[in-house]
Amino acid sequence: MTLRTVLLSLQALLAAAEPDDPQDAVVAQQYKEHPEIFRRTALHWTSVFAKGPKKDKELEDKVASLKNMGFEECCSERWIIHNVTGLRANLEQKLYGQHLVGKVVANHIQAHVRNKNPHKALALSFHGSTGTGKNHVSRIIAEALYKKGLHSKNVHLISSTKEFPHQEMLPLYKDRLRDMIEKQVKICAQSLFIFDEIDKMPSGLIDTVKPYLDYHEHLNGVNYRQAIFLFLSNAGSNAIIKHSLDHFREGKRREEIQLVDMENILAKAVINTDTKGGLWHSELIAKHLITAFIPFLPLTRKHVQDCVRDVLVTKGCYRRPKEVSQYTVDNVLKELTFNSGEEQLFSVTGCKRVAEKVDFVMLDSCKVEL
Ligand SMILES: *[C@@H]1O[C@H](CO)[C@@H](O)[C@H](O)[C@H]1NC(C)=O
Repeated sequence: MTLRTVLLSLQALLAAAEPDDPQDAVVAQQYKEHPEIFRRTALHWTSVFAKGPKKDKELEDKVASLKNMGFEECCSERWIIHNVTGLRANLEQKLYGQHLVGKVVANHIQAHVRNKNPHKALALSFHGSTGTGKNHVSRIIAEALYKKGLHSKNVHLISSTKEFPHQEMLPLYKDRLRDMIEKQVKICAQSLFIFDEIDKMPSGLIDTVKPYLDYHEHLNGVNYRQAIFLFLSNAGSNAIIKHSLDHFREGKRREEIQLVDMENILAKAVINTDTKGGLWHSELIAKHLITAFIPFLPLTRKHVQDCVRDVLVTKGCYRRPKEVSQYTVDNVLKELTFNSGEEQLFSVTGCKRVAEKVDFVMLDSCKVEL
């Protein structure tokens, strides 16, 4: 696509809006049901943001008063929603092939948020290979607990590779991480911290988090025990894959894989891992500050197919996953890599690249075009 075609399609959309396939459902509804208000609002925004000819005084005042009413997100019940029912439903319906994850995660979160005075901050460590759902589950949690989900000011996504790339800058990173956590928890006790790719963090950095996970009543007058920490990593994923494969070779069903077995395997693998970053030799493990290790199993072809259907429903092409044809699913699957040989059982990238591949195969339509 060139800039020219992008601009042309934007122009076409502006000239003839498509309320049946909207970017914003609320605006589309207004467009259909109250065209005069829609027109007036559009005129107003055009004047404000595109130097159009006429500003609407009344609408301007309304916007100003909304701003003054404290519409800004803050640390209150209005923005921190604790939708545990929604959390359970979404983990059940939108997470594929992870029978060891949904219920355990929901139970831990529920126990933590329903307790006004928890003993310590909640720390969950998610383990598994790419695309098995670690980020997906983090998003579901953020959306169930905060009205603005991952965009909430109280949700902090920390990408280890982006923010902490150099081992030799460890002292600086330690200060930065400490300052960040202290500042954010002071602003809102119910903060959520998501550490992505923690196995790629400089070795020793994660121990900075230790005091905030411990059983302290207060730390310099701040109570950290309502916070939630999620640690995402690939550490231990080879051990998880090996156990899943052995299990499969014995002819047993995936759902028979037991959480205790996986937890033991994980605990050993994470401590003995040969990569030096992240949790390796970390005091978080030595001092038992991690509430639970959560194993994400490698995904099979069938689970990836479910993800393809889900993406197409989210994209608005279908109303229900069942309506998507096998032909469409197969065409997307052709673009994805599975392990070779006997291990072909498992997808290399899980559901990670599915949305991107759907866009590639379907271009702008809802039909297979390649
Ligand atoms: C909780 O989440 C579910 C599923 O996302 C949603 O349908 C429901 O409206 C939410 N409830 C509240 C009170 O936000």
